Amino acid sequence: MSILPILIHPDPRLKKAAAPVDDITEELRQLARDMLETMYHAPGIGLAAPQVGVPRRLLVMDCVKEEGAAPRPMALFNPEVVWASEDVTTYEEGCLSIPDQYADVDRPAEVRVRWIDPEGNEREEHFSGLWSTCVQHEIDHLDGKLFIDYLKPLRRQMITRKMIKLKRERARA
Ligand code: NI
Repeated sequence: MSILPILIHPDPRLKKAAAPVDDITEELRQLARDMLETMYHAPGIGLAAPQVGVPRRLLVMDCVKEEGAAPRPMALFNPEVVWASEDVTTYEEGCLSIPDQYADVDRPAEVRVRWIDPEGNEREEHFSGLWSTCVQHEIDHLDGKLFIDYLKPLRRQMITRKMIKLKRERARA
């Protein structure tokens, strides 16, 4: 397994819609494993393929937070929200592509998501709490959307300027 470099905003690859996966090859299964390792290492609770420069509809997540609880690594190919609650919840979100920046985002509190697992089986599950916020955030990545796109333009521009500066500093280091 290997840890993959994570793209930092702004990057045109983070703004593009990703293509569906029609055949889950061993290569894509390996990518899912590498993405999980990259996510745990960051550390983070979710990661989408476009964030590692792969324009395919694949995301990984594990939102188990309880100390000592068993991890639940998930890899979702072609995930789709098939139902969303009218109830909205606000969560302070962050993103591995936008390091150290957090902001409140409103999203449906609960969603039902359908996807294909790495073995090729169709799966469907109801998500609530942090899992719901996380899966919606990651599916947004597959559509070229970032959590800062929900913020007011001024706040978004401020964060983007910080990220440009961060990238410049990292390039120099
Ligand atoms: Ni993100």
